[in-house]
Amino acid sequence: MDWATQPNPFRRYEGAPLIALDHIPPSSEPQYDAAFVVGHVLPQPFSRRQVSQFFCDSLALSALKQAGNSSWALRINPSSGNLHPTEGYLICGPMADLCTMPIVCHYAPAEHALERRAEFSLETWQALTKGLPEPVLLVGLTSVHWREAWKYGERAYRYCQHDVGHAMAAVSLAAAALGWQATLLDDLGTDALATLLGLCEPRGAEAEQPDCVLAVYPQGRVVRDGTLRSEVLETFATLPWLGKPNLLSQSHVKWPMIDQVTAATKKPPTDQLYGTSGPTGPPLAISAAPLSLRKIIYQRRSAVALDGRTGITHDAFYRILAKTLAGPGQFPFNALPWTPLIHLALFVHRVRDLDPGLYVLVRDPTQTTVLRAEMKPEFPWAKPVACPDGLELYQLQTGDARKLSEQVSCHQSIAADGCFSLGMIAEFERPLQQFGAWFYPRLFWESGVVGQVLYLEAEAIGIRGTGIGCFFDDPMHSVLGLKTLRYQSLYHFTTGGPVEDSRLRSSPPYSFIP
Ligand SMILES: Cc1cc2nc3c(=O)[nH]c(=O)nc-3n(C[C@H](O)[C@H](O)[C@H](O)COP(=O)(O)O)c2cc1C
Repeated sequence: MDWATQPNPFRRYEGAPLIALDHIPPSSEPQYDAAFVVGHVLPQPFSRRQVSQFFCDSLALSALKQAGNSSWALRINPSSGNLHPTEGYLICGPMADLCTMPIVCHYAPAEHALERRAEFSLETWQALTKGLPEPVLLVGLTSVHWREAWKYGERAYRYCQHDVGHAMAAVSLAAAALGWQATLLDDLGTDALATLLGLCEPRGAEAEQPDCVLAVYPQGRVVRDGTLRSEVLETFATLPWLGKPNLLSQSHVKWPMIDQVTAATKKPPTDQLYGTSGPTGPPLAISAAPLSLRKIIYQRRSAVALDGRTGITHDAFYRILAKTLAGPGQFPFNALPWTPLIHLALFVHRVRDLDPGLYVLVRDPTQTTVLRAEMKPEFPWAKPVACPDGLELYQLQTGDARKLSEQVSCHQSIAADGCFSLGMIAEFERPLQQFGAWFYPRLFWESGVVGQVLYLEAEAIGIRGTGIGCFFDDPMHSVLGLKTLRYQSLYHFTTGGPVEDSRLRSSPPYSFIP
């Protein structure tokens, strides 16, 4: 790491007109649990206030940390190393108090404002979103790989994709809080996305890689064909784009492998991608606990150390796991158009009435037989005590798994000192063969979405979580007995009683004054 070239975490489009958004303190409504299922929150109208709220709740700054003379901002969405490679965009039609014409804007978190990069005609907006519910707005996500590569080198590609997944879940849950819903529109190819978001000009080392676009619309409406009209995109290619991207670092180090993977995973345009996937979990049981969704979203933090003491009940453990399933209308997994491909290999350390040891949660029950056949034959696949129906949770091995979990998570003690930690095991080879190499980042996106739910669930029961991007894939595969590319470990996570971080200088919500 070269501190002199540390990238600026804030992209700005110098010269682009700024549309200030309102700072809206988190409200007690909607209730945390109920908001996770479609149909429990009255859809809010689309206006500048709601859009302000939407960005407050998804990608805004939310806290400040300080050590010595340096201080830094933290956000609603987490990021590996707090480097925040993910940038957010809004594309919308005319909206009360926000814009009279359709616009493409970049979200600037430090200012909590939109930078207007382009205006376009109403006809183009209507043509672009034909087939989508009304009203609708689009949220684009991109990654500045350099921000992450500055610290992590080649590993940065994967970390950027985890971060996209976390941001997708943050967007989906911010939508849920407003009675809206987000759905990934996965038909456009990478080039078309670049055109739509005004990212076609070469940017060299600081390029923003277009990742995805989500449609956001009132809950209860249906996305009929889930596509954006690519024939309209020619119009975007000729728009006069406003603003010049700021320079993030004075100099850069080349990481050719990242460019190669980015090129290899470039998405072509596709049609009728995934078919219809039904729910793979039971309906979510909604507790009556008086907990505010926004309060939990705002207080979310990564634990920097865990106390090695705190435990949770097995009921709490099962509730957390049920939240990671794609039950009917369940946020944020209803944003992903494919059947769940990520399963959880859990190291249970301190869950009352559960033996410590290794467990597996199969998030798509149709995978249980195949996954079992791939893992060590001696695993008993026993249902743990009081495990609710519909939770495909199995005990694989009993015993103290603290040392093992620490070792496979790059020797990080947070993996051992908590209630439980886990590795996210993706069905790997089959989707890549079926869809193509472009599906590779999507596996990480799904793992990031699962991670975001775990972060919030930990907060909701009074403990804390931390994403673990640094882990050893192959040792994790040997723990489970995985010998082929059918399943691969893509992301780790831990939860437990946090040790207070004395660097935290603010309580949520935090309004940044640049
Ligand atoms: C994809 C990802 C990977 C991460 N990996 C690690 C890790 O290996 N070890 C760790 O201590 N924290 C890890 N973190 C936590 C980040 O350091 C943390 O999100 C960041 O400092 C911002 O803090 P916040 O989550 O409190 O906003 C990870 C977070 C994400 C999203």
